[in-house]
Amino acid sequence: MKDQTNKKDKKGNTRVAVVTGGAMGYKTGGPSIGGAVAIQLAKDGYKVIVVDRLKQAGQRTAEIIKEKGGEALFLGLNVTKTDHVQKIVSTAQEKYGGLNCVVNCVARYSAGMAKNVAEIVEDEWQKTLDVNLGGYFKMCKYAIPLMLKSGGGTIVNISSGASFQSLPNFSVYSVSKGAIDALTRSMAVDFAPKIRANSVCPGFVRIENSERNRTPEELKAWYQSIAEGYPMRRVCEVEEIANVVAFLASDKSSYINGQSIHVDGGYGIADSHQF
Ligand SMILES: NC(=O)c1ccc[n+]([C@@H]2O[C@H](COP(=O)([O-])OP(=O)(O)OC[C@H]3O[C@@H](n4cnc5c(N)ncnc54)[C@H](O)[C@@H]3O)[C@@H](O)[C@H]2O)c1
Repeated sequence: MKDQTNKKDKKGNTRVAVVTGGAMGYKTGGPSIGGAVAIQLAKDGYKVIVVDRLKQAGQRTAEIIKEKGGEALFLGLNVTKTDHVQKIVSTAQEKYGGLNCVVNCVARYSAGMAKNVAEIVEDEWQKTLDVNLGGYFKMCKYAIPLMLKSGGGTIVNISSGASFQSLPNFSVYSVSKGAIDALTRSMAVDFAPKIRANSVCPGFVRIENSERNRTPEELKAWYQSIAEGYPMRRVCEVEEIANVVAFLASDKSSYINGQSIHVDGGYGIADSHQF
């Protein structure tokens, strides 16, 4: 944890970040985007509040940060519940004296939400929006007053390439990600210059939670088949997302506001037609 580039804010206080969806992989503590973001922000000198519904995997992220000499605490809370979100914000105030950075990284996945608009049941539609959009909205709504009191800061929302390109039968997920990008722009206009808000739109990222029960051989073949569709000819690693989030969270991106940054190895700009 030697790189402490963001250690102090303009008032000389240590910076404090909340990362929601910050648990490591739930089976073995393997790679996750939120975990990698929390670890990178801690390396950059933030005190990190890791939030996730998964208690053991969330605790693991905080442990990794502490093992590396950083400062973190874990809260096993649900970002769709107003009182839980208020607890996250009051913890930042009480334990660390303020809040300078929020990274929203939760997402809901279920078999029932992976449907087109005609087939999805209304309850699945609503439950997915409650997490993927409502969880981001609530976290921002209750964090922003404390961020303003703390001298300002940065919000980074994890969106997706699905905000711009529709995956088949992934209707509500795509809608939620498009709304996250619109929410990001809205906050970027309303709260600049004190708070900058940006989003990161990953393409396919290798995480433990999507590896499910595949054997190592099946996983290799799966990743290889996805990689073939990407100009970089490989899938993305979680640290490659975390590095961009950390940049957007830092003063190094001081004039970037309201943007959705694609981190997809060029997938979104590639045309596969052959002439
Ligand atoms: N993995 C990818 O290929 C990929 C691609 C594009 C975007 N994303 C985005 O990255 C972010 C991270 O997700 P992921 O896909 O890596 O999966 P993930 O399962 O590793 O992370 C999601 C985390 O959110 C937590 N969570 C869900 N609902 C919650 C709630 N109500 N309260 C608190 N925690 C909750 C889960 O427990 C989980 O730890 C998501 O926003 C996702 O949409 C991922």
